[in-house]
Amino acid sequence: MRALAWHGKHDVRVDTVDDPEIINPRDCIIKVTATAICGSDLHLYDGYIPTMQSGDILGHEFMGEVVETGPKSTLKKGQKVVVPFTIACGSCYHCGKHQYSACDNGNPADNQDIGMELYGQPMSGLFGYSHLTGGYAGGQAEYVRVPFSDIGPMVIPDGVDDEKVLFLSDILPTGWQAAEYAQIEPGDTVAVWGCGPVGLFAVQSAFLMGAARVIAIDHFPRRLELAKRFGAETINFEESAVYEALMEMTGGIGPDAVIDSVGLEAHGLFVDNVIDQIKVSTFLATDRAHSIRQAIVACRKGGRVSMPAVYGGFVDKFPLGAFMEKGLTLKTGQTHVQHYMPALLNAIMEGKIDTTFLISHRMDLEDAPKGYKMFHDDQNNVTKVVLKPGFN
Ligand SMILES: NC(=O)c1ccc[n+]([C@@H]2O[C@H](COP(=O)([O-])OP(=O)(O)OC[C@H]3O[C@@H](n4cnc5c(N)ncnc54)[C@H](O)[C@@H]3O)[C@@H](O)[C@H]2O)c1
Ligand SMILES: [Zn+2]
Ligand SMILES: [Zn+2]
Repeated sequence: MRALAWHGKHDVRVDTVDDPEIINPRDCIIKVTATAICGSDLHLYDGYIPTMQSGDILGHEFMGEVVETGPKSTLKKGQKVVVPFTIACGSCYHCGKHQYSACDNGNPADNQDIGMELYGQPMSGLFGYSHLTGGYAGGQAEYVRVPFSDIGPMVIPDGVDDEKVLFLSDILPTGWQAAEYAQIEPGDTVAVWGCGPVGLFAVQSAFLMGAARVIAIDHFPRRLELAKRFGAETINFEESAVYEALMEMTGGIGPDAVIDSVGLEAHGLFVDNVIDQIKVSTFLATDRAHSIRQAIVACRKGGRVSMPAVYGGFVDKFPLGAFMEKGLTLKTGQTHVQHYMPALLNAIMEGKIDTTFLISHRMDLEDAPKGYKMFHDDQNNVTKVVLKPGFN
């Protein structure tokens, strides 16, 4: 089959590779009909995530048709499914608490040492996201093996357009969980850093959860325009000082809740960001944490910090004093996709959440390297690339 493989920093190629096979009884194989490039994929593309190997197949946002089932899969051939990016067994201690992205069985034992060393516990399994998270082949491919197929994939009713439901695989539940973790109370003012797909779904979710005002921050005019479409007020950080603007907009109090949907590749000519860039390029640090620092400092006293954004390692100049003295709460993590999928599918079907507004480019899988480059180089115009095998 054809699949998009990582070969190094800024080097991804569509290669011909072996077709996936059923390995465990609960597996299924799906024929991919649509798959997206995620902001998280850019961290791989830019070479920030350790333990990648040349030839690794990328992609963790995908859906398709079931074409083969193991004896213990509950799916049937021909069903259309959306697959969560988190690989979870459904029966361990964490899955029992619906904390699927913390599953203890999704990541094969021979990959667990790296997570133990870095984080104190092994990472769970993710599709197409390095050997730290299991080394699973991802879904930017014609076919993909889906483990625990009786737990993860969500069957989609007949006749529903792929583009409406594809984002249930990751970014829609991620934006939703981000808003839930911000513990929004009716009437709240919520500030969201980053108007990428995750931030834009967090904006929509925050309003649905009762926020009176959402303030969205970015520097790409087109992305800020999309946030405005959902009723957000906006700050362009290249035109205004973010902290000062937020204080002015909230009567000097600060937002009740702040959401960091930027992550370890923050943009902008800020002193801390420039120092981070130098440190990262000389291997003295791993992450550029400007947006989470700024969010903590801007948040009101007693407020809530939600951090869907991905960070990988260690940061310095973390405003721990502000965090403690202001009495803030922080919630973060990879999304427990399986937990949110059913309710969010209903919300899409009932027209409460708009998903297709995000897609700026549709391409054949063969053009995936071009899609990565465009998404990387022109984030203003490229908000989301959807790859469809056989699309022309
Ligand atoms: N927790 C999870 O399970 C999960 C799932 C999906 C994505 N993510 C992470 O969420 C983050 C966002 O994902 P995305 O797909 O929306 O990515 P994206 O790269 O498309 O969007 C990030 C946005 O942040 C903006 N930005 C950069 N620096 C900024 C700054 N200083 N202030 C304000 N905005 C700034 C960029 O201009 C961009 O629009 C990434 O870190 C991604 O890895 C986490
Ligand atoms: Zn993703
Ligand atoms: Zn589990």
